[in-house]
Amino acid sequence: MIVFGGSRSTGLGWEVAKILGNDLGKSELAKFPDGELYIRIDTDVKGKECALIQSTRTNEDLIELLLTLDALRGQGATQVHAVIPYMGYMRQDKIFKKGEALSSKTVIKLVDEVSDSLSMVNCHFLNSEEEAFYHHTHISNLNAIPLLAEYLRSKISKPMVIAPDKGSLGYAMETAKLLNCDFDHLQKTRVSGTEVVVKNKKLDVKGKDVIILDDIISTGGTIVEASRIIRGWRPASINVGCVHGLFLKGVEMFQGVSDRLIATNTLDNPVAKVSVAGVIAKHLKK
Ligand code: R5P
Repeated sequence: MIVFGGSRSTGLGWEVAKILGNDLGKSELAKFPDGELYIRIDTDVKGKECALIQSTRTNEDLIELLLTLDALRGQGATQVHAVIPYMGYMRQDKIFKKGEALSSKTVIKLVDEVSDSLSMVNCHFLNSEEEAFYHHTHISNLNAIPLLAEYLRSKISKPMVIAPDKGSLGYAMETAKLLNCDFDHLQKTRVSGTEVVVKNKKLDVKGKDVIILDDIISTGGTIVEASRIIRGWRPASINVGCVHGLFLKGVEMFQGVSDRLIATNTLDNPVAKVSVAGVIAKHLKK
């Protein structure tokens, strides 16, 4: 198999190719003066199975992904696997207000059109590790939660997991099971894209090393508010972990808020301490 790493996931692409014992495929990416992207596949892929690893954090990442997948097919690859560690647009997986676009469906359909398989790491609307069908497209959902749990196991002694909202309760339960500890969740209400309110009865976290886990940290609003409330209940420490660290306002905002902040490398960021390369390589070997 030839592994390609898109511009958003170059490092991860290298890591996966290395684990699989393969070279990384070569491609050229350029931008026209009007902003349109240009892709050219440099490696001979005719008759070969290929995988493209590319998170789609921006619209441009998505276009690069689609063009590259289709170009690989155009060059005669037998199978083209889309591996999208962080796939954007997955949070709009429901029509919340009449008239809204169902973005997740549209974007997945586009990828499906130009690839033979689709896998993601902790897709926002799927539960842990599973093979799922979403509007007729098969998705392999890879799970990075055990990796985060293992990392934290070696750092803390009295864990207790708290989900910042009901939506991430599944992750908290899974982590608590792995670490053999208690779990609970907060009640979050989203006021706007940047503002959340967390209301809660007091939880008994005194002396505990609290772990707050979410699939995505975007603006950081959810975690900062959750940490502020938990801090008032006097835990021994607050350890924040996420799979996808977008950190739109930087990681500095967590200083003094949490004692530890970690993420996986589905996206590059200064706290990407846990690599999902092994999980992806294992999936591609199947
Ligand atoms: C929402 O459903 C997600 O699981 C995260 O809780 C959310 O994306 C976090 O966003 P922010 O960091 O902007 O509060």
